[in-house]
Amino acid sequence: MCAKKDEAYADIHEVDYRASYMRNRLQASGLLAIAGRKAELLNGEWHFMEDPYESSLRGHWYKEITTDADGRQLPSDFDPDDWGYMHVPSCWNMERPELYYYENLGMYMRTFRYTRHTEDERVFLHFEGAQYRAYVFLNGQCIGYHDGGSTPFTIEITKTVQKENRLFVSVDASRSHDRVPTENTDWFNYGGLYRDVMLIRTGKTLITDWFVRLRRNSGFKTIDVDMTVDGVSEGNAFLEIPELGVKQEITVKNGKGSGSFYAEPELWSPENPKLYEVKLSYEGDTLSDRIGFREIRVEGNNILLNGKERFLKGICVHEDHIDMGKCNTDENIREIIQNLKDLHGVFLRLAHYPHTRRFAQIADELGVMLWEEIPVYWAIDFTNPKTYEDAENQLSELIKRDRNRASVIIWSVGNENPDTDERLSFMSRLAKKAHELDETRCVSAACLVNMKKLKFEDRLMEHLDIIGQNEYYGWYTPNFEELLTILDNSQPTKPVIITEFGGGAAAGNHGPSDMMWTEEFQAEIYRKQFAVQKKCPFIKGSTPWIMIDFRAERRLNRYQKGYNRKGLISSDRKTKKLAFKVVSDYYKEIK
Ligand code: GCU
Repeated sequence: MCAKKDEAYADIHEVDYRASYMRNRLQASGLLAIAGRKAELLNGEWHFMEDPYESSLRGHWYKEITTDADGRQLPSDFDPDDWGYMHVPSCWNMERPELYYYENLGMYMRTFRYTRHTEDERVFLHFEGAQYRAYVFLNGQCIGYHDGGSTPFTIEITKTVQKENRLFVSVDASRSHDRVPTENTDWFNYGGLYRDVMLIRTGKTLITDWFVRLRRNSGFKTIDVDMTVDGVSEGNAFLEIPELGVKQEITVKNGKGSGSFYAEPELWSPENPKLYEVKLSYEGDTLSDRIGFREIRVEGNNILLNGKERFLKGICVHEDHIDMGKCNTDENIREIIQNLKDLHGVFLRLAHYPHTRRFAQIADELGVMLWEEIPVYWAIDFTNPKTYEDAENQLSELIKRDRNRASVIIWSVGNENPDTDERLSFMSRLAKKAHELDETRCVSAACLVNMKKLKFEDRLMEHLDIIGQNEYYGWYTPNFEELLTILDNSQPTKPVIITEFGGGAAAGNHGPSDMMWTEEFQAEIYRKQFAVQKKCPFIKGSTPWIMIDFRAERRLNRYQKGYNRKGLISSDRKTKKLAFKVVSDYYKEIK
């Protein structure tokens, strides 16, 4: 490509250079339902170059300009075909030692061939996750950008794709106060294209979104379906659940379709994780998935699964692995679920952001209930409308991605946020949005203890179905007896899950139970916590912090060395600390 006269040196003077790349925001409205679709993975070795000055954006490298308007050769500072390689999916921090703490822009490039299969074929690029912002360029054009490090996004490339293609993706992993999360978190800031990238082909008309679920309070006998299409906007769709003898016609008008019908499915539960083959077809397009049908709701202080009261015996997990960073695998997910079962648990709080799509799919199969969360974490810029837009979009992308997953029972709109007017407005709007997108699940958040009033009280609670409550008596608040006062002072009218408690221990560090950072000290915290929690009638669940030690740059004492050591299991997964058995014994006694 050639440069226009004025472009040659523009980049050294251009201050607001990012603005030109932010005209097509990729968000929930464009996210494609991919269940059952044939996807062509674009994973593998991509060319990669770290770009701390964002020169690739300032200088429009994606245009690959090498001559002036008259064809005379121009010097260029980039040479993507000569760059080194980065595996996709991966976290660059784990791939190269010199990139361990790298948090700026990484530029990826790969080529791919494309041959149209049918005349009216449509083509999409789909990303399962890029931490934090991704700018996408194809064949010299900027085709969109996405904010949010843990949710998927899709771009249609039907008009841009060619036989031979050059795809650039610039990923910006920087932290800033207006993002979600902000610049301050207690987990490691991994960067890169760390989840699958794929090409998806469809016909002229496609089903872009669908939601299939058991209607609440229907005696478990009504299934509701909602769907959205793109292309032919009127017609008949068919939903099939062969094992239930269901073949339901759904009328599509103005691009939307809804249906309800009688069925008596075997209910999904941890004890019986029953899944059904479900297929939705419309105008030659088909989605298919294995879907479980169950009901989750609250009644007074109780949480009811399929009409029966449940105590959610759980634990928190981060998406963090000593070798893979924030990448995840089926094997790792199954190992985490096995640890949960060894704890006699049935519930996981996937903290503090959406984990891989595979987690809820495997949890559906293995019978684990999930709390999924967006990273509205700590001191978010609650007064910033763009920050709200980002948070709401991440919530919408998460719910669109996972709302056909029986295992997901709770959407969480955040964690440990100060009870201010701005935060109340921001997070009550998110709670409302979650209820609008999904009337079948509970909405919660992990709240802080009201230390002024010494009780569980937070104005956000009236907007939640379930109260998540973090407290660290025995660790950050050593005056353990005060927990008794707090529980006595609290009269919640909804179920409470103690969504965090615990303490740190370096695996293998032993000593008396009053010596901090020993396994004995950590185990004693759990013993004291459970002795108090089990006597509290309104506590209906517990997810101690946390299953496995995880990377956290702010954890820098001799026991932590860059890790948060509150795990029941060491970061190398070789040691189950003494507290593991305390939790396992406690949960074993709870039916
Ligand atoms: C907080 C926070 C966690 C953090 C934990 C800790 O409650 O929610 O993200 O890691 O405490 O301090 O270990």
